[in-house]
Amino acid sequence: MTIDDFSSLESQARALLQDEPDSLAATSNFVALLFNALEDVNWLGVYVLRDDVLVLGPFQGKPACVRIPLGDGVCGTAAQTRETQRIADVHAFPGHIVCDPDSRSELVVPLIVNDELIGVLDIDSPLPDRFSRADQEGIERLCETFCVLQRGRDRFI
Ligand code: SME
Repeated sequence: MTIDDFSSLESQARALLQDEPDSLAATSNFVALLFNALEDVNWLGVYVLRDDVLVLGPFQGKPACVRIPLGDGVCGTAAQTRETQRIADVHAFPGHIVCDPDSRSELVVPLIVNDELIGVLDIDSPLPDRFSRADQEGIERLCETFCVLQRGRDRFI
């Protein structure tokens, strides 16, 4: 994906999200937009932080594990550290949680609204090393847009 592709995705995300007050509906469309736009992705979705556990939210792909404690797996690590995890080979990540055995590489971006962690965006690919640094930056920007548009909502999903 080029910078232009990410800019176009960002415009589409804004158009989908900005006038929709229901967070569940907005998040579902955000996830569907990204899943269909990104190539070589077998699973993409949101885990929502509820009482210190990540709980499965809107996603596209095969059924996945429902609860991930903070600090566990790639998602729990991204949530605990509040840092994006870009994993070229999931088999080399200690504690990686296998949901879809096709997944070979993974990108997990923490979702932070007004300094509060609300969840993570998780993207899996069947290709090793699918996500470049530029992909990470583009997807982090999309998540930032998503989080800005969550501000002012009473609750997330
Ligand atoms: N692989 C993730 C679990 C979620 S699934 O990939 C959908 C992890 O290690 O946290």
